[in-house]
Amino acid sequence: MKVLTSESLRKMYLDFFKSKGHAVIASASLIPENDPTVLFTTAGMHPLVPYLLGEKHPAGKRLCDVQKCVRTGDIDEVGDSSHCTFFEMLGNWSLGDYFKNEMIPWSFEFLTSPDYLGIPVEDIAITCFAGDGDCPRDTESAEKWLECGILPENIYFLPKSGNWWGPAGVTGPCGPDTEMHIIRNHEEADKLNSEQFDEAPKGTFLEIWNDVFMQYNKNDQGAYEPLAQRNVDTGMGLERTLCIINGKDSVYETDIYEKAIAKIEQLTGCKYGENEQNTKAFRVVLDHVRTATFMLGDAKGIVPSNTDQGYILRRIIRRAVRFGRNIGLPQGALNQVSKTIVEKYADVYPELVANAAKIEEELNKEEAKFLRTLAQGIKEFEKVASALAAGGVIDGVTAFHLYDTCGFPVEITVEMADEKGLKVDVDGYNKAFAEHQEKSRAGSEQKFACGLADHKEETTNLHTATHLLHAALKKVCSEEIAQKGSNITEERLRFDFNFARKLTPEEVKAVEDLVNGVIKQDLPVVMREMTLDEAREEGFTGLFESKYGEIVKTYSIGEFSKEICGGPHAEHTGLLGTFKIAKQENVSAGVKRIKAVLVKN
Ligand code: ALA
Repeated sequence: MKVLTSESLRKMYLDFFKSKGHAVIASASLIPENDPTVLFTTAGMHPLVPYLLGEKHPAGKRLCDVQKCVRTGDIDEVGDSSHCTFFEMLGNWSLGDYFKNEMIPWSFEFLTSPDYLGIPVEDIAITCFAGDGDCPRDTESAEKWLECGILPENIYFLPKSGNWWGPAGVTGPCGPDTEMHIIRNHEEADKLNSEQFDEAPKGTFLEIWNDVFMQYNKNDQGAYEPLAQRNVDTGMGLERTLCIINGKDSVYETDIYEKAIAKIEQLTGCKYGENEQNTKAFRVVLDHVRTATFMLGDAKGIVPSNTDQGYILRRIIRRAVRFGRNIGLPQGALNQVSKTIVEKYADVYPELVANAAKIEEELNKEEAKFLRTLAQGIKEFEKVASALAAGGVIDGVTAFHLYDTCGFPVEITVEMADEKGLKVDVDGYNKAFAEHQEKSRAGSEQKFACGLADHKEETTNLHTATHLLHAALKKVCSEEIAQKGSNITEERLRFDFNFARKLTPEEVKAVEDLVNGVIKQDLPVVMREMTLDEAREEGFTGLFESKYGEIVKTYSIGEFSKEICGGPHAEHTGLLGTFKIAKQENVSAGVKRIKAVLVKN
């Protein structure tokens, strides 16, 4: 059995793909740049969507990376052996370059060669797409796997529910995939044919890697359009692979959490794994503190709030506090656990170190805020719960009251109700919530209703307007202003930036006039590729977080705006119409938000 650490697995993967002609690119932010349909980066391919759709990537057609990802859909499963809300995805891409004939033998080599993972061939099961009206049966992949040496009885064909991947949000690139699984229980596996694959007892197979053969774009009508270029997108979960290769029972027993577990043990006097309840509490705290640390420590870091990403972060921190109490975690402990996480990842994600003070401050603040009302909330909850018979329902207004006055995110109320065999009227809660927060609700619903991934003219123009706004804010308000977040729908742009106060009406007008002046000059938007160092020397703004000396794309608009950016952009500013600031909002102390629109002339 090999012993692999997270550090050696990252390096092994990237070195392997470097040896196959791939450029190593840096992990993108956890907050998607231009996809309003999801809140977080959910897969390695997510930041690469424009390139999968045909934009040229400055680093070439073969890329690989380790991407920070968050998926909160399964948050209730956290505490079992494999679910995490944060994870790292090892991935490699072909942008219209190689396809199945290269990718499958490479996957086989990485999985089985003693120089890499060294998994015995007979322990590998493969699933391929069974075919349907959108796409034919993938016999090509199956044949390639057989040629490599995979045993015929270990190849299964599954429908779209099992062997189709994407899009990452609502729209975007997708296609049939072939998945690699480790057979953990041969006796059970031997009994199954393709139709029975999904019924295998838990733990029979563990998925380790996914090769997607991306040939389609799912558009906002839900239809699959063939893509002009055929891509490969792969994803291997780092934590899960570590767990499997090291023969561990769960991702929590890998090197990633070693120091964090020791810290919780020291703070509580409890031992990890003592009993089922204690194990779950440890795991929830470990997972959620790691996720919160990465969210707060992201270059486009967010803070706890009542909407969008900030709400997810708030809910994660509060859930960690609640489970932490079950094992006697004292106040201030989340921050101490978080420090072990920052240390563990310092070399891989230096942004965590750069933002260490903010992580500490926000974690302590949110924990204290929740603790102030938690005891009272639990009392109120108990009162409500004890008045109901088993199977009873907590009404929406009561659930909203627990949220509004005691800070219980509704998911926590649902979870606590569940522990007592009660239900919560979540629809009723949403209604009560909507009545109180009509405006912010309207905003987020709109956001989910449309997508950018297909380069609509409106969104492209708004993207260019975002660059102009950024430059104008620097000139009118402060050179120190930098982008803290950006989000674009077909209707408007949204730009977050560091500034202590809202703009005065005079400043708003000055910014609008500057932007509209540049639009009137009808300047070309010029893209040039260069190294990160050259971009820095030439005065381009952007995140200089890459460690790989990669080539980046830069966009300049005259001398007015110079940014590192993946695009796409309008070809010249005259296409934009008239720029207007629609609204200013407060995101947090020191971070302000502007929403702006382009009005057609
Ligand atoms: N995008 C694919 C996945 O996330 C590789 O599984």
